[in-house]
Amino acid sequence: IPTSEAHRPQFHFSPKAHWMNDPNGMVYYKGTYHLFFQYYPDGMTWGPMHWGHTTSTDLVHWQEQPIALYPDSLGYIFSGSVVVDVNNTSGLGKNGQTPLVAIFTHHNPKLEKAKTDKHEYQSLAYSLDEGKTWTKYAGNPVLPNPGITDFRDPKVRWYESQKKWVMTLATKDRVTFYSSPNLKEWTKESEFGKEVGAHGGVWECPDLFPLDHKGKKAWVLLVSINPGGPNGGSATQYFVGDFDGKTFKPYSTKTKWVDYGTDNYAGVTFANTGNRTLFMGWMSNWQYAGVVPTSPWRSATTVPRELGLKEVGNELCLISMPVKELNALNGQRVALKNPTAKTPFDLPAQSKTRSFKLDIATSNSSDFSMTLANEQGNELIFGYDKTANAYFIDRSKSGKIDFEKGFGKRHIAPRSSSSTTMTLTILVDVASIEMFADDGLTVMTDIFFPESDLTKLFISSAKGGSSAPVVSYTPLLSTVE
Ligand code: FRU
Repeated sequence: IPTSEAHRPQFHFSPKAHWMNDPNGMVYYKGTYHLFFQYYPDGMTWGPMHWGHTTSTDLVHWQEQPIALYPDSLGYIFSGSVVVDVNNTSGLGKNGQTPLVAIFTHHNPKLEKAKTDKHEYQSLAYSLDEGKTWTKYAGNPVLPNPGITDFRDPKVRWYESQKKWVMTLATKDRVTFYSSPNLKEWTKESEFGKEVGAHGGVWECPDLFPLDHKGKKAWVLLVSINPGGPNGGSATQYFVGDFDGKTFKPYSTKTKWVDYGTDNYAGVTFANTGNRTLFMGWMSNWQYAGVVPTSPWRSATTVPRELGLKEVGNELCLISMPVKELNALNGQRVALKNPTAKTPFDLPAQSKTRSFKLDIATSNSSDFSMTLANEQGNELIFGYDKTANAYFIDRSKSGKIDFEKGFGKRHIAPRSSSSTTMTLTILVDVASIEMFADDGLTVMTDIFFPESDLTKLFISSAKGGSSAPVVSYTPLLSTVE
């Protein structure tokens, strides 16, 4: 491995080179998953934004494509979504071709400098060749700025019962819903959130979608905030409620988090995936994204996750689990025989891959924690703290941490399940850990940068005997040539 590529994810998408942030315009069309992303192709830190592009036929292997959208005279290309305009409501389809339509924010740096408060507005681009090439709509912008500094990240979906498009837009300290018959003319419907939810930072990258719960439809509203996350920096909260095409009414106003780790931001769902709701986030945090020790690229996405709902107490909660397609990477599963610090489980002796999955079954009756370590004494510790009734990931000794003062910390996630049995699925990919506890009710995603691969795994605390956790290890194939 070239030293420069030491932290390269093996089964997560990361651009070959340069800066990436939010996933954008995720859409499934004719057998291909498209992931566009906030991209600065000329540097290693955030700059004038483009939409990068990568595609996959299985959600596992990604092929980077030419840049889809370049900045223009109206501004940088900020985050947004893509819809399949099946009925050609926009009229952008020609000769029977179904248009894919991107709805994105133009961010105008000149107007920003002039402090007009009107430097962000929504625009369209369309593709008539299944997402390969894109043309900006000549009538841009389609939704001008009414005088709100932060006015961005349109996520659009078709609202079938009223035959209209609904846009969920981040408008500073709330979301605003708009509707349109044709993607070109937008009418304000309502606002949500000024007095509800977490407000430690600006609201960004919202998403509104229905999920089925026992035959009943509930609507989930995702809202990313920066800063103000539960473990610092940027994070994504959610609300569950009703939506009638005009107004969103939450069932509860308790703040809930999609992910308690520090490295899942700006995540939204794919369009056009039928009954499945698939989510991907940016696996970093605005607090340190620009200084993480990777080169020649910065950032990766989370694994794609399938979303659902689960009733806990009398609250409907979001659950997220890695998509089943990832099982294609599974190698031979091995049971771990309670490895101790003295005789740890040696990962390279099991497989040549640098990434793996752990399946853990235990009970909530005592603490348990596991440690991943290397020869240099770098350690990543994760587990369950009984006294706090919380899961945790501790990266305070995980290797390179001093590039930013808040990076080397222990992160916690309150457990919300009350079941006495506890199951966890953990994905480790060279420089990231994604922990899915209790069927995806509590999720933590953290990145880390060891001085060499963490290849020793041991149980650092747990009860022995029959209450010892049952752990299995599955090596995961690499998707990187
Ligand atoms: C979220 C965000 C968006 C914006 C984009 C700019 O991470 O700040 O609100 O559109 O990144 O790159």
